[in-house]
Amino acid sequence: MNLTAVRPHVERHASLRQLNTFGLPAVARRLVRIASDADVRAVLGDRELGRLPKFVLGGGSNLVLGRDPAGVVLKVEVMGRRLAEARPDAWIVEAGAGEDWHGLVEWTIAQGWPGLENLALIPGRVGAAPVQNIGAYGVELAERFESLDAVDLVTGRSVTLAAAACRFGYRDSIFKQALAGKSLITRVRLRLPRPWQPVLGYVDLARRVAETGIGAPDARTILDWVCEIRRAKLPDPARLGNAGSFFKNPVVSAEQCRDIIGRDPGLVHYPLPDGRFKLAAGWLIEACGWKGKTVGHAGVYEKQALVIVNRGGATGAEVLTLARAIQESVYGRFGIRLEPEPTIV
Ligand code: EPU
Repeated sequence: MNLTAVRPHVERHASLRQLNTFGLPAVARRLVRIASDADVRAVLGDRELGRLPKFVLGGGSNLVLGRDPAGVVLKVEVMGRRLAEARPDAWIVEAGAGEDWHGLVEWTIAQGWPGLENLALIPGRVGAAPVQNIGAYGVELAERFESLDAVDLVTGRSVTLAAAACRFGYRDSIFKQALAGKSLITRVRLRLPRPWQPVLGYVDLARRVAETGIGAPDARTILDWVCEIRRAKLPDPARLGNAGSFFKNPVVSAEQCRDIIGRDPGLVHYPLPDGRFKLAAGWLIEACGWKGKTVGHAGVYEKQALVIVNRGGATGAEVLTLARAIQESVYGRFGIRLEPEPTIV
């Protein structure tokens, strides 16, 4: 049998509304579901699809569809999860890029392999986690990362990348920079250090320790706390469309930070090892009066000003108009340019 003759199954004019957590309307002229490396190569080798631009779609949880994506949408559905290796110093867990991230977190804890509990309830699929180096409550993916497999979208070759090659930064990696649109992540391996050590430094978790009197919580307890904290502050995308934090927390010089505090003493800021300061973008946006505001069908979430929500029937253009208005007012008052966190199409 000539395998190259097997054509990928193409869904035409596929609605993407259910495939992005913002619930924004957009249509894929062509959509192909990817369950393996071979499926990617079949697309690349296809006479019609091979020459078209490729758009990789995971859970659509960090995405603003301002328009229809061009070319062919590759919906990543590589499944499976397993313990790849039990080392004396770490559990190495492997998961397909199409697995639900929170499902993986729950499963590892249930199996007795803790380490991902601070990253509980982050929407999206496993394959997107390294792209934006997801982070929450004191832990970043980069600190739990072993390696990943990806397929080069030009050559069709499968490659394995270790942490250094991924160039992780704050909500950043090589997949948002040099490799943006050029590779499709198929599997991710996580390194869960042994012995396990809880990470309780983040202010909301430290408060739980003080309130409950549980000084040495286990991973399950931390997972439950993180879920409670997230549910109290962040909207559930199944009920209110959103893409989590809409902007990155900006980093400024010590001088600029001092200057702002001189005028606005309440500024929420965190020192960085290099002497600069990270500012809470949510605080800056709230200070500009945006919390709870609605423009068209898009709005700023009542409980966390860093989150833009779809109040029902919003278009991508409306979300982007609101985002630009927020950027302008924060720049006007503080001289800081907020950078969007999700991928914008
Ligand atoms: N704040 C306000 N007003 C607001 C929101 C926040 O004043 O409307 C101030 C508060 O003082 C609060 C502080 O900002 O204590 C920090 O807020 P929060 O703890 O909610 O964290 P964040 O800095 O807004 C970041 C991540 C989140 C992550 C949390 C917890 C970014 C862009 N966002 O938010 O990640 O869950 O920390 O670690 O770094 C995401 O990336 O989508 C995301 C949700």
